[in-house]
Amino acid sequence: MKRFEGKNVVITGAASGIGQATAQRIAEEGGNVALIDINVEGLAATKKIAEDLGMKAWAYECNVAEGARVKEVIDQAAADMGGFDTLCHCAGILRTYHTHEMTFDQWHEIIDINLNGTFYVNHAALPHLLKNRFSAIVNCSSTSALGSHPWMSAYAASKGGVISMTRSLYQEYVKQGLRANCVVPGGIATALHGDFKAPEGADMDLLKGAMPFVGFAKPAHAASVIAFLASDDARYINGTEIRADGGALS
Ligand SMILES: NC(=O)c1ccc[n+]([C@@H]2O[C@H](COP(=O)([O-])OP(=O)(O)OC[C@H]3O[C@@H](n4cnc5c(N)ncnc54)[C@H](O)[C@@H]3O)[C@@H](O)[C@H]2O)c1
Repeated sequence: MKRFEGKNVVITGAASGIGQATAQRIAEEGGNVALIDINVEGLAATKKIAEDLGMKAWAYECNVAEGARVKEVIDQAAADMGGFDTLCHCAGILRTYHTHEMTFDQWHEIIDINLNGTFYVNHAALPHLLKNRFSAIVNCSSTSALGSHPWMSAYAASKGGVISMTRSLYQEYVKQGLRANCVVPGGIATALHGDFKAPEGADMDLLKGAMPFVGFAKPAHAASVIAFLASDDARYINGTEIRADGGALS
């Protein structure tokens, strides 16, 4: 399949995990990629993956929680690529806390990166996306937004906000040719997942409802859903979510 031939795609969280796998999948399918992340080494690795596949790739160091910097970088990516029509926003963090022990700073860190970061990235990308007759946004939510995961009240709230915001964007811009959808991953073996630690004294039984019966998946299994949603194959899918969670919430 070459669904991204002639397309320029901006991908955040591109240094690792689902974002890196998405960049690879899109480059395999003929897309040029602008890669955004705070992790410079990971960005260089992803850039090489895309270039080795014969595609053009640009890398930008950026903290998605810094709105002014996000705008600068996305404008630069648009200038470097000659415009872009697709955004895959994967940057995010997971932290777990007993909610009653969480500090305000810990709450704000998660909301700043996952929710405010999604706003900053979408906000900066929209003027560029809307220059095209058709364009697409795929944001990354989480099963924690739809299920009930313990110790993740801030994370779940941030990812629930991502779903609500994405649906709102769909309605607002549908007549201008924009599709805005979320992928809802769960149980994908990435750095974020590997670093998961339950807070001290946590009762692991509480986590059972979040676990897939089929074991954990690879980043490519979420990337394939993102690539589908970003592609013309999903041209009639708008303002909704697709879970890639091995049936964990079913
Ligand atoms: N792995 C899972 O099971 C799972 C489940 C649900 C949702 N998600 C979501 O998928 C997305 C990708 O996560 P992943 O599992 O690939 O994890 P990952 O840690 O492998 O990748 C996340 C990437 O985001 C980048 N990042 C983090 N904070 C950033 C910031 N402030 N600015 C810019 N970049 C930043 C990291 O450097 C990293 O490259 C995240 O939004 C995550 O919440 C993952």
